[in-house]
Amino acid sequence: MKLCVIEGDGIGREVIPAAVEVLRAVVSDLTIVTAEAGFETFEQQGISLPEETVECALACGAVLFGAASSPSYPVEGYYSPIVKLRRTLNAFANLRPVRYLPVPAARPGVDLLVVRENTEDLYVGHEHTENEGQTGIAEKVITRDATERVARLSYELAQRTHREKVTIVHKANVLPQSDGLFRRVALEVAQDYPQILTDELLIDTAAYWMVKDPLRFDLILTSNMYGDILSDMAAAWGGGIGLAPSLSVGANIAIAEPMHGSAPDIAGQGIANPTAAILSVAMLLRHTWLLPEKAQQIQDAVYATLEEGGHTADIYSESAISTQQFTESVLSHL
Ligand code: NAI
Ligand code: MG
Repeated sequence: MKLCVIEGDGIGREVIPAAVEVLRAVVSDLTIVTAEAGFETFEQQGISLPEETVECALACGAVLFGAASSPSYPVEGYYSPIVKLRRTLNAFANLRPVRYLPVPAARPGVDLLVVRENTEDLYVGHEHTENEGQTGIAEKVITRDATERVARLSYELAQRTHREKVTIVHKANVLPQSDGLFRRVALEVAQDYPQILTDELLIDTAAYWMVKDPLRFDLILTSNMYGDILSDMAAAWGGGIGLAPSLSVGANIAIAEPMHGSAPDIAGQGIANPTAAILSVAMLLRHTWLLPEKAQQIQDAVYATLEEGGHTADIYSESAISTQQFTESVLSHL
C-alpha cells in the first residue's frame, strides 16, 4: 500500500504525524511518500500545490492531507491547494460522516453522512471584480455529469451501508437553473433506487433541522458549498470539529482529510485533537483499501480513549492531554 502524505499548514503538521503513527500500528506493508502543499509552500516555492505533489498523489492513489491556510483576501497566484487537488484528481465526492462519540458535546444516536459534490459549484474559482473593484462576481457551476456521479455514488453507498433515507439539499427555489439542475438530476437518479426513501430540503431549512433534530438525517446529498457548511454544523453533534473525519473519493483516488482547517489559533502548541485525522485514515482503510477490520480496530481504540476520559483541550479544558499523549493512548488501545 502506498500513501502520499501532505501535512500542509498549522495543526496539519501535528495531527497528520499522529494519524500516520496509528496507521503504521495496524498496517505493516505501507510505503509513505511525503509531499508539500499549502501557504508555507506557496511562500517558499511560489505555488501552493506543486506539480510533484500532484504526481505523488496520482502515483500512490491514496492521499492523507492535513490542512492548508488560505487567506481571506486575494493573494496574487495563490489558490486553495486542497480544492485544486480534489478537482485535479477528480475526487468527485467528499464523504463526511458524523457519528456519536463519547464526549460531552456529542448527541447520542447521531449517525449521518453528508455526501458533498467536490469539484464544482462556487468552488470552481471563477471569480473577478468589475466596476473598479466595487463589484465582486463569482460563477456557480453545476453540471449534469458531476451531479449524476455524486448522486449515484450516494445511493450506492446508502444501499451498501444500509442507510434508509437520502435527503437532497439545494436552494432550487432561488436558483432554478443551477441548484434546480442539481435537484432534477438527483431525483432522476433516486428513481433507480425505489427501496431507499428520498426527500429534499432547501439549504436554510436543512440548517434549521440540523440544529433542531439531527436524528432526522441519514444520508445528505448536496452540492459543494452547502455540503461544506452543513457538514461543519453536523460535526458539532459528533462532539466537535476536531473529531470529524472525511474522505474524498474518485475513480482510483482517495484523499483522507480531516474536516477542520489549519487552526492557527492553536497551531504549534501540541494540543490539537488528532481524532479527525486518525478517523480519516480509518475511512481510507475501510473504503479504499478494503480493510474494514483494521478500520474498526482504529475506531474502537479512539472510542475507548475518549470513553475513559482521554481528551484534548477542545473537548473540555480540564485535565486535557496533548496531541502526543492522546495518540499514545490510542496506540495502547490498539
Ligand atoms: P479551523 O477548522 O481551522 O478552526 C476552527 C476552530 O476549531 C478553531 O478554534 C480551531 O482551534 C478549532 N479546531 C479545528 N480543528 C481542531 C483540532 N483538530 N483540534 C482542536 N481544535 C480544533 O477553521 P478556521 O479557523 O475557519 O480556518 C483556519 C484556516 O484553515 C483558514 O486559513 C482556512 O482557509 C483553513 N481551512 C483549511 C481547510 C482545509 O485545508 N481542508 C478546511 C477549513 C479551513
Ligand atoms: Mg469546511
